Amino acid sequence: METVRHVVVFIHLIGFATLFGAWAVEAYNRRIRVTPLMNIGLVIAAVAGLALAAPWGLEYDLNYTKIGVKLVVLLIIGAFLGIGQSKQRKTGSMPSALFWLVGVLTALNAAIAVIWR
Ligand code: HEM
Repeated sequence: METVRHVVVFIHLIGFATLFGAWAVEAYNRRIRVTPLMNIGLVIAAVAGLALAAPWGLEYDLNYTKIGVKLVVLLIIGAFLGIGQSKQRKTGSMPSALFWLVGVLTALNAAIAVIWR
């Protein structure tokens, strides 16, 4: 059971890497836009994260305050991706603040995961 949980953490990390990596490529190339890969990464991180939010395969207690904060941050990232996507479909571009916040909030969620114990 513990090994299965580690595999789900691994999948969770793939989702995080996909979301942050897809965002970083656009930021590096100064392209202020949402790409489908960001949505895919978010969905993978969300599904695996929700699976990890249940207390199975563990010998310690989960920090539910931390998990709740991570869930709220993830929902905000999802909202920004959705709003950004619909704006760029209508006008050809998205507000740059939303784009930068997607990266900052994704990094924040990873920081919360590893620093807040
Ligand atoms: C963009 C969103 C997210 C990012 C970047 C992210 C990042 C991470 C990272 C880097 C870890 C590994 C930490 C470690 O093992 O020390 C982790 C673990 C974890 N994440 Fe997330 N996460 C996100 C969303 C979520 C969501 C929405 C939930 C649940 C509602 C969640 C629940 C968890 C749990 C429970 C663990 C601990 C796994 C364990 O130790 O058994 N995460 N997350």
